[in-house]
Amino acid sequence: MVEVPDEVHTARVADLFDLVADSYDNLGVPFFGPIAERLVDAVEPQPGARALDIGCGRGAVLFRLAEAVGSSGEVTGIDLAPRMVAVTAHEARARGLTNVHLQVMDAMRPSLPCGHYDVVTASFMLFFLPDPAAALTAWRSLLVPHGTVGVSTFGGWDPRWEELDDLFAPYRDARFFPVDPRDPDGPFGTDAAVESLMRTAGLVHERTTAFDLDLAFDDPGQWYSWTRSHGQRMLWDSIPEAERDQVRDAALERVEGWREGSGRVVTRHKIRLTLAERP
Ligand SMILES: C[S@@+](CC[C@H](N)C(=O)[O-])C[C@H]1O[C@@H](n2cnc3c(N)ncnc32)[C@H](O)[C@@H]1O
Repeated sequence: MVEVPDEVHTARVADLFDLVADSYDNLGVPFFGPIAERLVDAVEPQPGARALDIGCGRGAVLFRLAEAVGSSGEVTGIDLAPRMVAVTAHEARARGLTNVHLQVMDAMRPSLPCGHYDVVTASFMLFFLPDPAAALTAWRSLLVPHGTVGVSTFGGWDPRWEELDDLFAPYRDARFFPVDPRDPDGPFGTDAAVESLMRTAGLVHERTTAFDLDLAFDDPGQWYSWTRSHGQRMLWDSIPEAERDQVRDAALERVEGWREGSGRVVTRHKIRLTLAERP
């Protein structure tokens, strides 16, 4: 694993998500939305509650939390990427939501009121952090006693995605993921490992649920556009420009082989939700 100072890593992640902010979760491929729905259901925000969504991106979780807590509640979203925050704040205004607040902020150092939030969520973002246990420790102090934290991570990949690994391996840029989220021995490798992060952070009653999610594309071209619209963009951009078209064509040829009879490409992933509470 490449050693990179935290501030360099943080700046690179912010630049990456600024770059994809407009297309992120906006290409007609349901993925972050269905996960957010399950996560919000799991943390059970009550009407009038105060909720914090960390690494809120384009608001997949944030807007569902806002609906759940209603106008008497309050929802705060923070994200490292200024453009993500700007477009999501614009959408909150367009939706007429006056109880949704957005701020550019590093999840490792949240400068927010302690003991204030009934619910803290972080969907598909924990593995971007240089020290997930330290982040969870900081988030614990933001919760009210017995408040709930809920995170989503990958529980398992469709094995077919591994058919592409050798294409990207020579270029894989470890600086975006301080730990490999797919390492079976790493902090996101098993349910128990993620629960252990919660315990290390002083959280209790840690528990896991998982569900399968079908990720469906109209065709390989949509698969390619989608992989360029979120964190996987880093894989493409790590490839020197002169070689990028060649790697893309090789990947598309393999994805072509995944087509179903209908012509669509459908892959199935396991999504893990991990919940815990402040004592
Ligand atoms: C894969 S996206 C998930 C966004 C959203 N939670 C969703 O489910 O669609 C990861 C998000 O985490 C944000 N992020 C990554 N590192 C962060 C950090 N240190 N502090 C705050 N946000 C961060 C990124 O900018 C990006 O918007």
